[in-house]
Amino acid sequence: MLSTNRRKLLDVFRVADGGLVSGQEIADALNCSRTAVWKQIEELKKAGFDIEAKRGSGYAIKPAAEIFTEDMLYFRAKTEFIGQQVAFYPEVTSTQVIAHQLVGEGAVDGTVVIADQQTAGKGRLARPWNSQKGTGIWMSTILKPEIPMQQVPQFTFIASLAVAEAIENITGLEPQIKWPNDIYINKRKVCGVLTEMQAEAEQVNAVIIGTGINVNQALFPEELRDKATSLAILVGHPVSRGALYGEIVVQLEKFYKLFLDQGFAPIKLLWEARAIPFSEKIVAKTLKGEIRGTVKGISDAGVLIVQDAVGEEHEIYSADILLG
Ligand code: BTN
Repeated sequence: MLSTNRRKLLDVFRVADGGLVSGQEIADALNCSRTAVWKQIEELKKAGFDIEAKRGSGYAIKPAAEIFTEDMLYFRAKTEFIGQQVAFYPEVTSTQVIAHQLVGEGAVDGTVVIADQQTAGKGRLARPWNSQKGTGIWMSTILKPEIPMQQVPQFTFIASLAVAEAIENITGLEPQIKWPNDIYINKRKVCGVLTEMQAEAEQVNAVIIGTGINVNQALFPEELRDKATSLAILVGHPVSRGALYGEIVVQLEKFYKLFLDQGFAPIKLLWEARAIPFSEKIVAKTLKGEIRGTVKGISDAGVLIVQDAVGEEHEIYSADILLG
């Protein structure tokens, strides 16, 4: 995690929002000499920030589009709490695994774990998640709401809504959501959400939202080619992962606060406006087996209700949905 001094320095520039900051303002914020300010600016250059120095008036900084580092991610997170603590790893097994560990070590609400590459990325239903180096946003967000366990699946809706909104704001593409957690554009998957929790005796200690977004892959492995796509393939040029990350944390915080203030109902309505409609007959493939039937709808809790051939209703929390 970033040092307090580095956070203070980045905060001064964040507040300036691209404008000039004088050397004296930096010296005051860091409680250091003007010579030390110069050293700090050099460090920021090394961390990938473009620095414009105007003699006598100060410095302005701009994050380079393609740089993906802890400094940059902190700088980009213009939020109150989501992303204000960020742990960045060039390579990790799975950000979900690290996030679970950090919860055990007392991580605060809104902590983000993010990696440039995952060597053992986890998908839903115990599948692997392809997380090639430098191509995507592989992140896990730790939230600590005071809610009963039954509400945890609703965070998949909050997260998929936030990511869809962020993708649209940054790229102009129009993402759709396939229940419960997949974001599709042009019939191919660009993002998946994996919601996990830590709980004791019905009490939720933390919700960990894993989000995998295909951003700049030029090509997918053979087995994924007709199922997955990336934002870069769709828009025809690379997309700044940093800019997209900044928008995701803003949207996630916005929808999380809406949920805390007004409950799941407004989230469900917004989510439904982006949802790919169900075909009437479906097959839901769950970890416990297949359920064939007719979709009755999504409950107020976000659970899919499917009625089978003998009229029995099933509540499905997580599944792959195929046409019946
Ligand atoms: C899915 O199966 O659609 C969910 C995929 C979730 C992948 C993300 S990438 C970041 C986080 N770390 C993981 O190991 N998995 C999630």
